Formats: sequence, structure tokens, C-alpha cells
Amino acid sequence: MDRSIEGVRVETSSPAIGIAVIGAGYWGPNLVRNAQQTPGLRLEYLCDLDVDRAKKVLGDYSTVRVSGSLDEVLADPAVSAVAIATPAATHYGVALKALEAGKHVLVEKPLAPTYEEGRLLVEAAERHQRVLMLDHTYVYTPPVRHIRELVRGGELGDLQYLDSVRINLGLVQPDVDVLWDLAPHDLSIFDAILPDDVQPVSVAAHGSDPVGAGHACVAHLTIRLSNDALAHVHVNWLSPTKIRTVVVGGSSRTVVWDDLNPVQKLSVHDRGVDRADPTGLDADARGRTAVSYRTGDTVAPALPNHEALRSVMVEFAAAIGEDRAPLTDGWSGLRVLAMLEAASISLQKDGMSVPIRQVDVTGMKAATTEIATDASRRGRGEVTV
Ligand SMILES: NC(=O)c1ccc[n+]([C@@H]2O[C@H](COP(=O)([O-])OP(=O)(O)OC[C@H]3O[C@@H](n4cnc5c(N)ncnc54)[C@H](O)[C@@H]3O)[C@@H](O)[C@H]2O)c1
Repeated sequence: MDRSIEGVRVETSSPAIGIAVIGAGYWGPNLVRNAQQTPGLRLEYLCDLDVDRAKKVLGDYSTVRVSGSLDEVLADPAVSAVAIATPAATHYGVALKALEAGKHVLVEKPLAPTYEEGRLLVEAAERHQRVLMLDHTYVYTPPVRHIRELVRGGELGDLQYLDSVRINLGLVQPDVDVLWDLAPHDLSIFDAILPDDVQPVSVAAHGSDPVGAGHACVAHLTIRLSNDALAHVHVNWLSPTKIRTVVVGGSSRTVVWDDLNPVQKLSVHDRGVDRADPTGLDADARGRTAVSYRTGDTVAPALPNHEALRSVMVEFAAAIGEDRAPLTDGWSGLRVLAMLEAASISLQKDGMSVPIRQVDVTGMKAATTEIATDASRRGRGEVTV
């Protein structure tokens, strides 16, 4: 049976996958709700060290079991998969235990507190042949899906720059700086949209702590890409104005995503700067006319409207059912960690350019499966956005 939920089509003929959500804090309830609304999944447990908190999330009439013990959940054969929404510092320990117990793992960003621990998780997933997926939520939003198609399909031309701004009056986190709290979103978006032949090479990061929080509350990252383009990220917990924009400039088109615009989130501009054609110009005129300006149409693509986290859950179920890598697999988490770690080193060295570790997996991106868009590739679930 196929069911269509907010633009996400899910096939429910296969037996449902028993899943446990670990962590019932701020984000966990979103995983609970979406796991319950994804027909390919059956929520078995909500697990939190704070059992009362988990009970409150489920309410009085839920048949989902509550547990305060990860070991109890992992020992239950009814559980084939876990979705982890515990604090970032605990991801490594919880995810490793789950993989070693033979469970498929969906883990919140960032994959682990260090690249090395992230690598061990990816290795464990491969060793146990289990799906390891990152909840890089923004990658599953319709605008990012569309930008990915535009960039990777060549419609923007040669990539010239990327610019991502994520600023707000945010919760100043006690344990991580703004870079590790917010930039995983921007970096995972970059990771998803960059063409296979363009890699982040080095990063220079500047940060400041004007309120004395003990770590950076404002950070700017400048990443040099292998095609010499620049990618910039501005993350900030202190801004009274909320801005969430991504601009991707190419030689043919520029795409602008304004996530807070309720009417027109995405616009594709045929406007930009071209190199002028010097033919027929004398030397003097050539010097004065190095560039010309293109003022073509701006198009606002129609985008489906559905919750990204639903697509995350559907993709997790599909990857398990089809025994394939999800779009945001463990390697994508590792690439994001490589950028974060290099940025942290640069931050400590006052903006020094730091090389970004290359995650060396042959054919890794190519192997990263696109979410199925045609019925022939349908397994346990599919996204039809
Ligand atoms: N994808 C997104 O957009 C997004 C948004 C917000 C948070 N997050 C991520 O979600 C994760 C959780 O963040 P949060 O703000 O919900 O944190 P939180 O502190 O509000 O909640 C974490 C919960 O995990 C529980 N917990 C801790 N260790 C545990 C363990 N070993 N076993 C069981 N339960 C345990 C805590 O008791 C707490 O209830 C973080 O990794 C964060 O980065 C992602």
C-alpha cells in the first residue's frame, strides 16, 4: 500500500522496522512524532535517563514503552534501529553501543565530538553492515533538494561562491561554541550541494565571545574550495534579527534561499557579471570594459511543502529496507566533522588557514544514493519531492 503524506510517499507493504528514540529533550520529541507518522517504522521505545521526561513526551495514553536504560532497549529484538537525540558529547558512546548491538543508527548532528570518533563510528557501521545515517535535517528541505539539483545538474554554470548566514538570538550553549552548534547545518548543506569534483580544501575561521560565555558566540568561516571558489558561513547567537539565507553563485545563474520568507523561499537569478567580449575593442576600451552585467529573469521555483524531518525518517527506513546508503550517510557526517575540526583549529590560531582533511573513500559521493524519485527504485519508502 502506498500512502502520500505531505509530499512524501511511503510504501508500507514490508513489515515495519522497530525503532527506539534515545533522548527526550528539546529535539527528541520531533523524532518521536515523525517516527510515529512514518508507516515504514514502528516506534517501540522512547529512552531517556530522565524517565519522567520521556513519559511526559509520550503522554498518558501511549502504548510506546519508556525506558531509562539504553542496555534494555538495545537487548530487545523488537528494536532494529535507533534514532539518537542525546547531547553531542554522548553521540559516540550511544551510537557505538547501538551499532555493536546490531542496530541501524540515525544520529543527530554532529556525528561525534571528534573526527577520530566519527571515523570509528563509520568503521563500526561498515563492520556490522548497518545503516549509519546523519540527521542533517536541512539537506531534506525542498529548497536544498532543489539547489542540489541546480548545482549538480550544471544549471548554475561554474560554481563561483557560496554564502550561508544563520544568525539569531540563540540559546548560548554551555558545552559547545556557536561553530559546533550551528555550523553543522551550513556545512552539511554545502556537503550535499557541492558537485562531486569540488571539495573543501582549507578553512580560515574567526570567532568572538563578546558576552564572556567562555567560547565563541559569533563565528565567520571562509572555506576555500578545490575550484578556487569561496564558501562563507556566518553563525551567531547574539543577533536580535533572525536571518537564514544561503546564496550560491554560478557563472550562469545565482540561487538565493531565504528560509524565513513565507512566500518565495527560493529565487533563481539570471543576473550576474560576465567577462566582456573584447572582440573589436581597442586596447584602451578593453581596459575599461573588463566585465559586463547580465540582467535576465528571476524565477521562483514552485516547491512542495513538507516537514524535512519526515523525509529524514522515510529515507532512514528506505535505506534499511533497500540495504543501501542513505543520502546523508556516515561519510557525510565525517566530511562535516573534517570541516568543523579544521575550523576549530583555525579559530584557536586567530584565523590561520588550516587544511581540511580529505575523507578518502573511493566513489563515496557517487555511492551516496539519491533518494528514489521513480517507482522502479521504490523499496520500503520513497520521497517524491
Ligand atoms: N537537526 C536539528 O535541527 C537539531 C536541532 C536541535 C538539536 N539537535 C541535536 O539534537 C541533539 C539533542 O539536543 P537537545 O537540544 O534535544 O538536547 P537536550 O539536552 O534538550 O536533550 C537531550 C536528552 O538526552 C538525554 N540523555 C542524555 N544522555 C543519555 C543517554 N545516555 N541515554 C538516554 N538519554 C540520554 C537527556 O536526559 C536529555 O533529556 C543534539 O545532538 C543536537 O545537536 C538537532
